[in-house]
Amino acid sequence: MQPLPGFRDFLPDDCATRNCIFATWREVARRYGFIEWDGPVLEPTELYRKKSGNEIVDQLFNFIDKGEREVALRPELTPTLARVAATYEREYKKPLKWFSIGQFFRYEKQQRGRLREHFQLNCDIVGEESLAADVELVALCIDVLRAFGLTERDFIVRVSDREFWTDLLRKKKVPVEQWEELLHAIDKSEREPRDKTIERLGTLADPVLAILRKGGKSEKFECLVDGLRARGLASFVEFDVRIVRGLAYYTGTVFEVFDRAGKLRALAGGGRYDNLIGQLSDGEVSLPALGFAMGDVVLGELIKETPGARNKMTEAIAAADKIDIYIVIAKEERRPDALAQIQQLRDRGYRVDYPLMPAKVGKQFQTAEQLGAFCAIVFGDEWPEVSVKDLRTGEQKSVDHEKLPQNPLLLALSRPGSTSYSSLA
Ligand code: HAM
Repeated sequence: MQPLPGFRDFLPDDCATRNCIFATWREVARRYGFIEWDGPVLEPTELYRKKSGNEIVDQLFNFIDKGEREVALRPELTPTLARVAATYEREYKKPLKWFSIGQFFRYEKQQRGRLREHFQLNCDIVGEESLAADVELVALCIDVLRAFGLTERDFIVRVSDREFWTDLLRKKKVPVEQWEELLHAIDKSEREPRDKTIERLGTLADPVLAILRKGGKSEKFECLVDGLRARGLASFVEFDVRIVRGLAYYTGTVFEVFDRAGKLRALAGGGRYDNLIGQLSDGEVSLPALGFAMGDVVLGELIKETPGARNKMTEAIAAADKIDIYIVIAKEERRPDALAQIQQLRDRGYRVDYPLMPAKVGKQFQTAEQLGAFCAIVFGDEWPEVSVKDLRTGEQKSVDHEKLPQNPLLLALSRPGSTSYSSLA
């Protein structure tokens, strides 16, 4: 049996990659002072029908639950964030700087870079209307990608401003009810046949296509670039009127991140949604907000295609997968003593493995090497002494088993996460 189309099995190597991506996402978000939160994976379908726009609603994994409720697996986090922010905002100092890592589901046609489930890092700032927040958010997005070893030669953040287009629609006296469809047509213009775009734009086709051809200018963008320039990040962004974003709730700055070669789908996307929290709370809470989400699928592809980033990831995974200590049981009658020691070492936070069943000593050393162990501790004839072997140098020393905690080799290995939960019991 195969998994459903667009769903992935995560074998150990895939899990290692995923862990590495999540750890980097989390670490950089924390560097920026963002704190982690999450919401439910199943939400009322209504939440998306009202707020995300038609494109996402067409892609919902939705069904009627046993209580006759219309529900959907979350296709994105922003409507949930708006609901949660409106409900709990009084309990937190503004601006909220929140990030989240989770799985999302969209019933899309499976293709390169697009699956029916994917993971996203979401970073959002709620309660700050100044452009300083836009700069901070774009800088965070850039720094997350830089942390994977990607550079300005590998990706570009294309920034625009929805107001650039909504000002035009207002000037042309287009009724607000038609805006979503027109913005959507502009958003899709790069990927849809020209005839279809012209048809969708109707009377606006000529002026819009002229702007798309010539490009545009934005004062807001210049200010944003100044903020990024101060951090040395200006070379990662460009103004691009073609970026509109498919989601309905954006109000101001919008941006999408692409690989420089232009071969892949978007790596990340986001923008300002200053009215969403107000709309979702029926005007009870009004807070400006902005955020972005980065998916794991396209990011994984770009890392694989970029030698510097690929090597960085391979090294990180190799280091994360290694065990610290392999216990070699050279004499079976020492097994209970070895188990007692294994328990103590694991309680101290070391990663320890050993043979579950009797095995030849040579075979055990082979396993130790395969698992990437830093050292082996041999329980055999010398008891109560054990022999500690540095597997990198081959150097071996006998020590009293009770003095193992003070052994310099083990001390050098000491792990920061060594407070064991069992000591809390
Ligand atoms: P989005 O552009 O729909 O934005 O998705 C963000 C990223 O998620 C995309 O750039 C892409 O990397 C990844 N992604 C989306 N759909 C798929 C898929 N079917 N397969 C693989 N990857 C996918 C949002 O979701 C907004 N809620 C972002 C946001 C946060 N805006 C404000 N705060």
